[in-house]
Amino acid sequence: MTSSEKSKQTKGPHNRIESDAASTHSMSVSDIKDAYAEYADSMHRLEWLDRVVIGRYRQARFGDVEGRVLDVACGTGTNFRYLPNTVDLVGIDVSPEMLANAEEQLTELEIDGDLREMDAQELEFADDSFDAVISALSTCTFPDPIAALREMDRVCKPEGTIRLVEHGRSDVGPIAKYQKWRADAHYARNGCRWTQEPREVVSEAGLEVRETSTGLFGTISTFEILPNQSEER
Ligand SMILES: C[S@@+](CC[C@H](N)C(=O)[O-])C[C@H]1O[C@@H](n2cnc3c(N)ncnc32)[C@H](O)[C@@H]1O
Repeated sequence: MTSSEKSKQTKGPHNRIESDAASTHSMSVSDIKDAYAEYADSMHRLEWLDRVVIGRYRQARFGDVEGRVLDVACGTGTNFRYLPNTVDLVGIDVSPEMLANAEEQLTELEIDGDLREMDAQELEFADDSFDAVISALSTCTFPDPIAALREMDRVCKPEGTIRLVEHGRSDVGPIAKYQKWRADAHYARNGCRWTQEPREVVSEAGLEVRETSTGLFGTISTFEILPNQSEER
């Protein structure tokens, strides 16, 4: 199968995750792009808070990747500081405003990376291009997260690794209740499906999880995924 045939297999809408109320009125890629144009600078300013709350999950999942690394939906570049400084880094995001902040992050951290504006659901890379594909807090915003995960799988080398740090529903009753209550408003405001459960998305994409962990009252899930195992590939 040619590269473009493989790529086409991963495109097109997929069944949305049943448990997610906000998914019934999914935003388009262009809506998401507009939403993040507005949030880019404030997200950059709030990175200190991310370091305190989520930093340890990023460090644990991304701290040992090697070689050519793709950060999908890299946003303002929050992941960059957790990567070994030996990696050959490529970051993509649909929002030029987020990427402008990511560029600043590269300069600040003295990392030589390549940032490109691109849709995660249609990655413009050949099959098997990266040793590691990483992504954080992203599947909640992709209009078609299954397509995006299958694209990550396609561009990762068979002997490589896919790493995710994602948020989802809490396993603590009152927190879960609050998330459910606010899910639609949160989606309308931030383009983020707060109650989407990453385990369900990864499973629906047919990806093989090698290792997973959960933290922060069940709201953060991290994954190490073996590429090239899905029947869709
Ligand atoms: C919550 S932010 C997370 C950013 C970063 N990964 C982090 O951990 O801080 C979600 C990011 O996904 C990007 N995004 C959403 N849909 C996308 C798509 N279809 N393709 C590429 N990037 C997308 C947004 O522009 C935004 O930068």
